Amino acid sequence: VTPREFGVGLIGAGWMGSLHAQAYRRVRDHYPELELVPRLIAVADVDQARAEAARAHGFEESTTDPLAVIEDPRIEAVSIAATNDVHVDLIRAAAAAGKHIWVEKPVGRFPVETAAAAAAIEAAGVISTVGFNYRQVPLVVHAASLVRNGDLGPVRNYRGRFFVDYASNPARAFSWRFSRDVAGLGSLGDIMSHVVDQAHQMVGRIVAVCADQVIQIGERPVAEGATQFAVAAEGAPLREVENEDYAVAMIRFENGARGVLEVCRTMVGRHCDLGFELHGTEGALGWSFQRMNELQLYLPPVADQDVGYRTVFAGPQHGDHGRFEPDTGVGIGYSQLKVSEANAFLAAIASGEQRSPGIAEALAGAGVIDAMLRSAASGSWEDVTPLKAG
Ligand SMILES: NC(=O)c1ccc[n+]([C@@H]2O[C@H](COP(=O)([O-])OP(=O)(O)OC[C@H]3O[C@@H](n4cnc5c(N)ncnc54)[C@H](O)[C@@H]3O)[C@@H](O)[C@H]2O)c1
Repeated sequence: VTPREFGVGLIGAGWMGSLHAQAYRRVRDHYPELELVPRLIAVADVDQARAEAARAHGFEESTTDPLAVIEDPRIEAVSIAATNDVHVDLIRAAAAAGKHIWVEKPVGRFPVETAAAAAAIEAAGVISTVGFNYRQVPLVVHAASLVRNGDLGPVRNYRGRFFVDYASNPARAFSWRFSRDVAGLGSLGDIMSHVVDQAHQMVGRIVAVCADQVIQIGERPVAEGATQFAVAAEGAPLREVENEDYAVAMIRFENGARGVLEVCRTMVGRHCDLGFELHGTEGALGWSFQRMNELQLYLPPVADQDVGYRTVFAGPQHGDHGRFEPDTGVGIGYSQLKVSEANAFLAAIASGEQRSPGIAEALAGAGVIDAMLRSAASGSWEDVTPLKAG
């Protein structure tokens, strides 16, 4: 097949927007067989300076109007990397215009919004990719295949976590992530969405939860236009934090495995510790994003000596590692996961076949988070009732 030019647009030129743009530019360096050659046509951000600055990524045009990107007939696919409050409206508009959609997580501010987005995408029949980029980690792909192949025996226990410290300092400014209007949920949307998705990838469907949540730092100093990394000036006025810092849930999987999922954005000393501990009847696994290129693997010893976990280093035999580095122990990084994600998105469009994680996986995750919210309110175990698109 002769590769063809493929117009893409970006909405939201912050941290994630920059990674989407870089991924479009780099994707054919690493996936040269890709039939679609991304052409970066237009970028939109309501912040004009950000929109203009993003042209450095190679966009031909910039605008402050996201609908101008969606309606541009040269653009066949849009990346939605704006704040969570505008995801659903932009998805509706893009789907109605027949554009394929690569949207950042959480898709909706609340589960009900993710369901509305799913309905729009399903009705339009466009391809969707959701930014659960940790699915692309080569050693996570490998770990999931060890589990699926039965190498560890049936899974009995799973502990998933995401501990970050971006909000651990009370002087960190009130950014959009602390607002129910803009972010919606707090840690349950921002980081539990990844943890639930990873549990689904590693073990399977979660069917019941018993959850708790709490705001640990009740107010934060205000700084105009603050990002999640900004520290406010001393004496700045305080604003009440509107969504949870911490959440935890005991869980039951459909296959009978039991576990715990725990997330916290105020965890002193844990910078970006997404990870899991998984135990089967024959073996076990442990992994953290902070050591993304290392997997802890326990298999029964052949003799009585040398008992214990061993470290597996990422190499070209794992997932898409070889797309980036030819050797074992030569690690890859976060932004390369977005390049793999861009490939998954564009290859799905080229073939017309939806891949995971798309909107269906986001909807499944939102159903689990919906049950966690019900459980935290009722104080009891709650069944996960799969959400219907709509
Ligand atoms: N996949 C991941 O691991 C990951 C990591 C970080 C953030 N995210 C998600 O990515 C999204 C963006 O987060 P971020 O950290 O890049 O935020 P950010 O604050 O760096 O950038 C958000 C940008 O969106 C712009 N914006 C807001 N409303 C807009 C609108 N109506 N039209 C166009 N632009 C608009 C803002 O001006 C800002 O430039 C969020 O949904 C977030 O949850 C995902």
